[in-house]
Amino acid sequence: MTQPEGLFITLEGIDGAGKSSHIDALEALFRATGREVVRTREPGGTPLAETLRGLVLGEAMDPLTESLLVFAARRDHVLNVIAPALARGAVVLCDRFTDATFAYQGAGRGFDLGVLGTLEAWVQGGQNGSADVLQPALTLWFDLAPETAAERLAGARLPDRFEAQPVDFFRRVAEGYARRAGADAARFERIDADATRENVWAQVDAAVRRRGLL
Ligand code: TMP
Repeated sequence: MTQPEGLFITLEGIDGAGKSSHIDALEALFRATGREVVRTREPGGTPLAETLRGLVLGEAMDPLTESLLVFAARRDHVLNVIAPALARGAVVLCDRFTDATFAYQGAGRGFDLGVLGTLEAWVQGGQNGSADVLQPALTLWFDLAPETAAERLAGARLPDRFEAQPVDFFRRVAEGYARRAGADAARFERIDADATRENVWAQVDAAVRRRGLL
């Protein structure tokens, strides 16, 4: 989708990959250029979507219900937060978006990728009068071995329904991200998350500069 004004950037990766800890610095980087920055997350980002997040992370349900709820949350989020912010010319930094659905519900849970593609087109289509499907301009994919991510998560806060999954689930999720990145290489920047925090930040900073986004 053409985004002449706003800039939509997403952060992705398996639980424990460390993506969220770089959002502050990314925000500061763009704010220093004088731009409005909107920080948000999925599932969530609106009161309704945050309510749905609580259900998705806390209640047992089948993969179709899970997929419908994350896309319902996304629809509310896109309509009320993301699309208006992009139309204003803001930078939108979103912690997870639809790649997470393909990775978690698709690859992780084994849910039908064709159905997810249809939901993606419904939910992200037709923004601002355009027929295009809204997609991020850049997706920072924090890639980390599932075993390393599990070590990082061990002993952290009480795990939610996803964090409590066995390492095999995260192997599938990681493969799902890799496939999604392979299918849209122009949008993805792979960040090697098996490094010090400083090194990971240096990769993020370099990726944004390399693409001329600052
Ligand atoms: P977070 O802990 O990074 O905020 O993400 C919440 C959890 O929700 C995480 O385990 C991934 C999961 N998730 C999905 O399963 N599908 C989705 O579409 C999204 C956005 C997140």
